Amino acid sequence: MINSSLTGQVDEYIENLFVEEDEALTFAIKNSKKNNLPPIQITPVIGKFLSMQVKIINAKRILELGTLGAYSTLWLAKALPDDGKIITIEHNNNYAVVAEENILSSKMKDTIEIKIGEALSIIPTLSPTFDFVFIDANKEEYKDYIEKIIPLCHKDSVIVCDNVIRNGGVLQKNPEKAYYKKLQEFNAYLANNKKLETTILPFTVPLTGRDYIDGLSISRVL
Ligand code: DHB
Ligand code: MG
Repeated sequence: MINSSLTGQVDEYIENLFVEEDEALTFAIKNSKKNNLPPIQITPVIGKFLSMQVKIINAKRILELGTLGAYSTLWLAKALPDDGKIITIEHNNNYAVVAEENILSSKMKDTIEIKIGEALSIIPTLSPTFDFVFIDANKEEYKDYIEKIIPLCHKDSVIVCDNVIRNGGVLQKNPEKAYYKKLQEFNAYLANNKKLETTILPFTVPLTGRDYIDGLSISRVL
């Protein structure tokens, strides 16, 4: 057992019972590590969770912000039907090169399109609509992203954002990091947005010996 914390053990328990990575996902993790990408991709448990959400709502068109090594992209793409499509935006060229390799190793290169550049410039060029959106890019820009994305959605589109709890960083009265404050404001914005119905699902992050809690916001477009 690699996880000594309780949250780590719980995550491992769920993963062992319900999550199976295919070859492409395993390759993506290995190749991302080899190329020194930061190991901040979603966990396998969250990958399975996102892919099930995509299937449950029968999503056909997905938008993702923050490709990193395309690990989450592959989980989302796997959940799409044959004629489905995911556009994923990455601003870091080095990450995008590794992501391309990881996508090529999968059988889903026709399903996935990477766009390299600033999400805030690219989003307005995309044609509507998206059924499912996963935001996992610059935490300081989440509000700007979602404001630009809502017009590209339809009623009952689902928008999920990663890292909206940051181990309770968003609870701090005087946030020790600037982006905690931005996320606090973002969560309040979600709560007050009349175009969205939102909640946050907390989840555990299996960091060895630590009990780390983060959260996914889940919004339905009204
Ligand atoms: C970190 C984790 C993330 O999921 C992310 O999107 C960015 C950073 C982190 O733990 O540093
Ligand atoms: Mg993240």
